Amino acid sequence: MKKIKTVYDFNFENQTALIRVDFNVPVNKFKKIIDDTRIQYSIPTIQKIISEKGKIVLISHFGRPKGKPSKTYSLKFLADYLSKQLKINVIFFEDCIGEAVINKVHELKHGEILLLENLRFYKEEEKEDINFAYELSKLGNIYVNDAFGVVHRFHTSITILPRFFGNKKCIGLLMKKEIQHLDQFLYGKGKKPITVLLGGAKISSKIELIESFIDFADSILIGGGMSYPFIKIKGGTIGNSTIEKDKTIEKTLQKLFQKYQNKINIIHLPKDVVIADSFKNEANTKIVPIHSIPNGWMGLDIGPISIKNFCNIIEKSKTILWNGPVGVFEFSNFSLGTRSIARAIANVTEKGAFSLVGGGDSIASLKMENCDKKISYLSTGGGAMLDCLKNNKTLPGINAIIQK
Ligand code: 3PG
Ligand code: MG
Repeated sequence: MKKIKTVYDFNFENQTALIRVDFNVPVNKFKKIIDDTRIQYSIPTIQKIISEKGKIVLISHFGRPKGKPSKTYSLKFLADYLSKQLKINVIFFEDCIGEAVINKVHELKHGEILLLENLRFYKEEEKEDINFAYELSKLGNIYVNDAFGVVHRFHTSITILPRFFGNKKCIGLLMKKEIQHLDQFLYGKGKKPITVLLGGAKISSKIELIESFIDFADSILIGGGMSYPFIKIKGGTIGNSTIEKDKTIEKTLQKLFQKYQNKINIIHLPKDVVIADSFKNEANTKIVPIHSIPNGWMGLDIGPISIKNFCNIIEKSKTILWNGPVGVFEFSNFSLGTRSIARAIANVTEKGAFSLVGGGDSIASLKMENCDKKISYLSTGGGAMLDCLKNNKTLPGINAIIQK
């Protein structure tokens, strides 16, 4: 790992830390937090700074409010939650830049925390805007990036803001932990056999990933919507199954197959699939071979033979990476595949394998099966985790800390 400063390189006594966190936590319609992993993982950084009597200003995004203030996307609800978790009073302020915010920061006592309103209430946040960055830079004198979930985005608070801090910028402990765990996967450092399981709907973002794993993984399992483009180029019929609308995918896949002819046997696709006659939980269902899905029907989960094949491979693995469900697991009738995978990964981890799971859906399915605690490492990043593995840590947010 390139030398990158962390919060351990600073003493925060009499300093004001401006911490970029990712508090974009999943909530239900009553704004009750469904999964607080991102908050829990950010606590060590906050505690370190508080224990040294530093002041803390927290900045984050929440959802995608498209550059406009809105109640739905306010971060206000988190102030109480954080106060309880940290046992320190967390003060909230309903803006993230301007005179009033600066005054609040000045009023802050050492060892206190100020949580500011959603950065994305300003459209400038998503536009790498130098003026917005300048305004934010007035709020602290050491910049800390602990927002792994968003470190792959070219957003002002991630890539531009750190430029205003010279040498006084670093990553937090959440970020450090993420980088260290993902490192186990780069260059095949993990113990063999190494298995990578990729699911979810979007294949375009994952083709490159397949390329970076193909040299060292022993098995690459493909499930969910991602598998249909593979079936299609092999001449199968996929009925009405949802497939990402991107004309370049088939060509890219064909190239991949040509380039790695002698390795292609490590890629495992589902053999059978649970099909439905409409996209709902109560739809009529059948189990058919995945390459012959009739018109009017769509694949919504992997079938029993595929579950068995995938689980057999998982059970023999020593290192496993999982991102993305293998079916529409939100519908209970189509969740068996994903839940079986979740259990298989948890079981093999208990037997000593190293497992790394990222992405909101995969983590949610582990929780459904009550086995999230058994996984070696849950990543707080979905897209960020994949980009980190793909680009080998040239993530924009990390580069911004390394550069002077
Ligand atoms: C996430 O939840 O994926 C991160 O917080 C990034 O959010 P974004 O996908 O809206 O940029
Ligand atoms: Mg996302």
